[in-house]
Amino acid sequence: MAEGGMAGGLNLILLGPPGAGKGTQAKRLEERYGIAQVSTGDMLRAEVAASSPIGLQAKAIMDAGALVPDEIIIAMLAARIAKPDCARGFILDGFPRTVPQATALDAMLARLALSLKAVIELRVDDAALVARIAGRFTCATCGASYHDRFKPTRVAGTCDVCGGKQFIRRSDDNAETVAARLAAYHRQTAPILPHYRAQGKLFVVDGMAEIDQVSAEIESVLADIITKN
Ligand code: AP5
Ligand code: MG
Repeated sequence: MAEGGMAGGLNLILLGPPGAGKGTQAKRLEERYGIAQVSTGDMLRAEVAASSPIGLQAKAIMDAGALVPDEIIIAMLAARIAKPDCARGFILDGFPRTVPQATALDAMLARLALSLKAVIELRVDDAALVARIAGRFTCATCGASYHDRFKPTRVAGTCDVCGGKQFIRRSDDNAETVAARLAAYHRQTAPILPHYRAQGKLFVVDGMAEIDQVSAEIESVLADIITKN
């Protein structure tokens, strides 16, 4: 595939508020382009599940819907994108989330002689997000994301992707925490958008559309970028 040969890999950021569909679309991009999903939220949840020092520190912050300190996240991310599965490219899902994280990412990429190909902003109305998050569940085995109403499994109780039978609901997916997560997005994360707009790397996709339609829009943005590289 042409994209496999892209110099430095197809390195992307998926940006958007909680419930925008970052995880859903990142999984699809991972399959479609053979690049790695790097979700700082998933990494933190793994630390929490393991009761590691990072997990112990992060749990209360995540349950309150606030952001985990930049130093922890930046160190975690730097180690992650240096792994071999990121060599063909990666999709950052949930990072960067603050101006210092965006600045640290620029420095990290420069050090690794990598470049960012695109930042895709999934735009969704605040009102729709709460409904999405309230019905969400994911496969405990492969992480595929579902929704009670918008995306049920094809066969009840069985993951479409891996056939797994166990599912998880997140402890931060309740009404109060969602409100705090949304506020954090608007206050701390949205301010990084102008940074990427100024670099000419920001592409806005309508995240209110159906899941397949959102994927199609993202693919058309990427098709252009792959052609130009
Ligand atoms: P994180 O795990 O990143 O959560 P988030 O940003 O709140 O985003 P979500 O995972 O909730 O939503 P998503 O956009 O992935 O949507 P999904 O595809 O699941 O972060 C969690 C916490 O970790 C943070 O609050 C913070 O404490 C900490 N953290 C993480 N990264 C950090 C960082 N960099 N710095 C500091 N702290 C950090 O979709 C949602 C639902 O909608 C699903 O059920 C799905 O099936 C459905 N759906 C998806 N697309 C559509 C569609 N188009 N139409 C209808 N339904 C849809
Ligand atoms: Mg997610």
